Amino acid sequence: MTGAVATVAVTPGLARDGEVTPPGDKSISQRLGLLLALAGGRSVLTGFLRGEDAMATLGAMGALGARVHVERGDTVAIDGNAGRLMTPVRPLDLGNSGTGLRLLTGLLAGGAVEAVLTGDASLQTRPMTRICDPLERMGADIELRGEKPGCAPLRIRGRPLHGIRYEMPVASAQVKSAVLLAGLYAEGDTTVVEPAPTRDHTERLLRALGLPVRVEGPAVTVRGFGSRGPRVRADRWAVPGDLSSAAFWIGAAAAREGMRLRVRNVGLNPRRTALLDVLRRMGAGIDVEPAADGEADWEPRGDLRVTGARLRGTEVGGAEVPNLIDELPILAVVGALAEGETRIRDAAELRVKESDRIAALCANLRAAGVDAEEHPDGLSVRGPTRLAGDAVLRSRGDHRVAMAFAVLALFARRPSVIEDVACVATSYPGFWTDLARLGGGVERL
Ligand code: S3P
Repeated sequence: MTGAVATVAVTPGLARDGEVTPPGDKSISQRLGLLLALAGGRSVLTGFLRGEDAMATLGAMGALGARVHVERGDTVAIDGNAGRLMTPVRPLDLGNSGTGLRLLTGLLAGGAVEAVLTGDASLQTRPMTRICDPLERMGADIELRGEKPGCAPLRIRGRPLHGIRYEMPVASAQVKSAVLLAGLYAEGDTTVVEPAPTRDHTERLLRALGLPVRVEGPAVTVRGFGSRGPRVRADRWAVPGDLSSAAFWIGAAAAREGMRLRVRNVGLNPRRTALLDVLRRMGAGIDVEPAADGEADWEPRGDLRVTGARLRGTEVGGAEVPNLIDELPILAVVGALAEGETRIRDAAELRVKESDRIAALCANLRAAGVDAEEHPDGLSVRGPTRLAGDAVLRSRGDHRVAMAFAVLALFARRPSVIEDVACVATSYPGFWTDLARLGGGVERL
């Protein structure tokens, strides 16, 4: 089944033993696509995410002068533009990808180009002043032209930038990365200080590329190369699997007593693995087998073994949140299957993701018969719920909402309908195939 499916019926079922290899990490694929497009020469990326978000980012880099060759399977070759950015003739459409749009804005702010960046209806409602504020302080010229104030489309006119020290008001890896990438094109050093640790894929990749980046506690500093930008060397890279995609099956297996699931080749960056700690404290068994050379790699990776149990509710909040921000939809679903209350706090950022995820999660949980309560900064869920099925669940065009509720549907007695699921292709084109392999049924309506 392809991703271009509008509505599906999901039939319950989950095998006792399963194995899954998740698609390539979305954050890492996009960062590699952005930076290697600047290299002088050909880079080859294996394990690249062939999802719409990552392909939209590659498409934008193509319009900026790189040549992209999509080879068989999940291999992509990029002939870089050797740092010579071309002025694109048309607006660059990043589709649904907040990462693509925000990081590319940072990358172009100090380059010698002019470009308009836009995205789909969801992306055009997401806040962009969070990146424009620091970039303008560096000297950037960015005009927000969205129908909604503070939103895309945005027009960038490349300008000479100067380094700044920026204390981020929100814990956002996208903001941090946008400022660091702009910093590469600035005069002098650029420092970003995080209020809480967020995913550090950009810093790791810059270091692996041999570019000067320094991490001192919560402060990350890059050295600027001025308006010509850095010289990036072409190379071969292997992208690990996406823990945020694997999370749907990890959550499903954790909540099914006695189930054993093996997850192969998944990224285990410590800034991404908080879900594993949360599921362990809920009662699931999770063993990590780091890849032989995985720890030494620029991004740690390995296999997981998940053993399902009768779970108990838990609380999630504080500094844990940025390290499982994309896993909160599946965690809310797991909470509905666990004994007692699961409370998610300090997660107001969920309201400005691909949808207002707090509202979307609560509405769908209730539609499925779950006792859920919405809070300004999160939600609480009380379980375990005996799910009848027969529910109509709505993704609101948000891939992680669609996938989280497909998992919930596996635990019901009768099938559930999930509307608006084409969005799943943004991050996990093989999701429905994997769902069927793990014991569920899926029928296109
Ligand atoms: C991402 C960072 C997170 C995450 C998003 C991908 C990234 O967003 O939710 O899906 O690739 O940097 P924020 O950093 O804005 O919270």
